[in-house]
Amino acid sequence: MKEATILGIESSCDDTAAAVMENGHLLSNVVSSQLDHKAFGGVIPEVASRAHVEHIIPVVKKALEEAGKDKTELSAIACTQGPGLLGSLIVGYTFARSLAQSLEIPLIAVNHMHAHVLAHFIEEPKPKFPFICLTVSGGHTQLLVVEDYLSMTIIGSTLDDAAGEAFDKSGKMLGLSYPSGPQIDRLARMGKPVFEFPEPQVPELMFSFSGLKTSILYFLQKETKHDKSFISTNLSDLCASIQERIITILMNKLTLAVEKTGIKEVAIAGGVSANSGLREALREKATTEGWNTFIPKLSYCTDNAAMVAMNGYFKFLEKDYAAIDSAPSARLKWN
Ligand code: KG4
Ligand code: ZN
Repeated sequence: MKEATILGIESSCDDTAAAVMENGHLLSNVVSSQLDHKAFGGVIPEVASRAHVEHIIPVVKKALEEAGKDKTELSAIACTQGPGLLGSLIVGYTFARSLAQSLEIPLIAVNHMHAHVLAHFIEEPKPKFPFICLTVSGGHTQLLVVEDYLSMTIIGSTLDDAAGEAFDKSGKMLGLSYPSGPQIDRLARMGKPVFEFPEPQVPELMFSFSGLKTSILYFLQKETKHDKSFISTNLSDLCASIQERIITILMNKLTLAVEKTGIKEVAIAGGVSANSGLREALREKATTEGWNTFIPKLSYCTDNAAMVAMNGYFKFLEKDYAAIDSAPSARLKWN
């Protein structure tokens, strides 16, 4: 069989990333994270696009160099087409499209959320089909039944904020910089979940995080009225309490999904799957409920191009190529 050497490119939010994969084996994986957003408390789309313009060529060059490949050896270029920030997507996608055109090789369009799931196939152990995947990132919270590499069905999603946003917005109220998820995770380990935040009552496999955000806001407003240093004195306990509530929301719905489908092969994916409390809660289920659980390596949880190259490889095998005049889409459809 002809070698399949795929260059993967990811630029949907604030990470510019490139990776090279040969016949499904990862050769290089380069990420350049933008630090410029910390000062603003969130990703500023215009700042992100400009940074992608600066980073894209050096990042792709580095990925090829580390893989020991020349661009002329590539079989195809896979790139995130969406969902994400339009300006950010345009930089990566038009770069990928132009490079594919100039090398006269196929362009493969990748759905960012599919790619997060397929991160589970970069290394062993790999889940068996069908499996359930809880995909939790800064922009999405989804429960999926994954039937095959390129076939996944959404069985649950959020009515409002994503799990990552719940971490980031709570962190902002606590005075933490963006993205707050990793900081809440670190501080929570030093605290105890002594504060009770309500669990939203939403039907079936739907999620909601906006009520939690409001209850945290009101709670902090009430407490800081009498005690200006309430947040700093109780920071680690607040982080532990917020994290525990977000994890119970996620785990309760995941448990319901397992009950409803009878599928005990369970994976987590996306930036929030880097959370140590969530990882621990899933491991516990493996022991107590006999689930067969899959937790990605930390570098494959947050945005990366290895997962895009992986998705690209499966599409390459199916000759599922994008039209050369295709365009990125901020709200890319699921299938
Ligand atoms: O998948 P990702 O890198 O980008 C998107 O596609 O959105 O996810 C980013 C999200 C952010 O909200 C960030 O705060 C969260 O993942 N995150 C975490 C942790 N690491 C990243 N949340 C909780 N605990 C972590 N350790
Ligand atoms: Zn992501």
